[in-house]
Amino acid sequence: MHLTEQARATLRLNDKGRYTLPTHGLYPYQWNWDSAFAAWGFTTFDPDRGWTELETLLSGQWDDGMVPHILFHRPDPGYFPGPDVWQGRGPIPSSGITQPPVAATFMAKMLAMDPAGAPRARALWPKLHAWHRWFMTWRLDRGAVCVTHPWEAGRDNAPDWDNAMRAIDVRDVGAYTRRDTTHVDPAMRPTKYDYDRYLKLVQLGVSVNWDHGALAKINPFRVADPTMTFTLLRALRDMITMGRRFGEDVAEIEDWIATLEAGAETLWNADMQCYDSRDVHSGKFNDVLSNASALCWYAGLNDQRARPAIERMLDAATYALPSFDPAAVGFDPLRYWRGPTWPIMNYLVGSGMEEQGLSDLGRRIRDDTAQLISRHGFAEYYNPLDGTPAGGETFTWTAAVWLGWASDHREDKRGAA
Ligand code: GLC
Repeated sequence: MHLTEQARATLRLNDKGRYTLPTHGLYPYQWNWDSAFAAWGFTTFDPDRGWTELETLLSGQWDDGMVPHILFHRPDPGYFPGPDVWQGRGPIPSSGITQPPVAATFMAKMLAMDPAGAPRARALWPKLHAWHRWFMTWRLDRGAVCVTHPWEAGRDNAPDWDNAMRAIDVRDVGAYTRRDTTHVDPAMRPTKYDYDRYLKLVQLGVSVNWDHGALAKINPFRVADPTMTFTLLRALRDMITMGRRFGEDVAEIEDWIATLEAGAETLWNADMQCYDSRDVHSGKFNDVLSNASALCWYAGLNDQRARPAIERMLDAATYALPSFDPAAVGFDPLRYWRGPTWPIMNYLVGSGMEEQGLSDLGRRIRDDTAQLISRHGFAEYYNPLDGTPAGGETFTWTAAVWLGWASDHREDKRGAA
């Protein structure tokens, strides 16, 4: 089967009607940013289904504006921690945290591909606006966007969190049974040390009924993060373009952009010469060069300072772009966000570079991504040194990246793969 057909079949395979699973087994619910990728992927061949995906995601929005990172539409014993542990307080059982706000940017892309979807986009715009306001209200530190749980950044076990994780007391976390390691080799997953802390943070959120103000006071984990800051900055730019078209007042969003641009500068680690995450409690940088450091171009910042470090990272790997600097201590080419290359991040980074005129680098990332997918299928992520596919298989967002971006540069588009 032609790879594009396979990508479509993968989306169909994971399609639950009104939302899409990231992959069967490992992730049996609707995940926030995965879903935005899915919506975009569907729009390349079935726009109606694409819009429905975003509508379902936004139907889980809490009344304070937050859009949860997981919507537990139907109970599934194969996943832990489930709705009973999270106790989210939205209209649909959910987690109590959010994920990178890429939905508005994908909505803008969908609108460009499917202008007939304008009424549906227009109906979603105010909901996205409310979500973005929630970030601006609850999550800023010196203008940069913070995460209150490592899972919020979508980079679960990234080394960015190590310092903040150390400060979490897990003595009373209690017993629990993980499910992820029954689906995937434990060597590719976060460790028990990590999981104890992930759960403790959930318990803290539940203890204040996910009151964001109260949680900020007791949470030992608060990290200003380039993933969140850059994706929100980009989302706001797309919201302005769409908002003007829809006759919305966008003055407030312009102010938010100015705030975030100043905030992004507080993530510039001058010693490391890269964008970095910053521990809000200690005020210190985490000294991590990651693929999130390279999202500045996607955010619309054409920052020449950022290029050399990213190029070094690219040169150190066979396949672009490792999630963590291969030259750093602790780099692990198979363990999730501590080394592997992720097509979805490659897309965000690579397309941002292409937009900002760094076409050589953007192209390199796109070609590598296309090679990995065409050789090994729609894996969750890949070893950046030898290309081994890893994590879950038949991944929705990897298929979406193929459909929306990576397939454009393939010579074997006619079906050699
Ligand atoms: C993992 C990833 C996260 C993703 C989720 C579902 O938790 O780290 O980014 O959204 O899986 O694919």
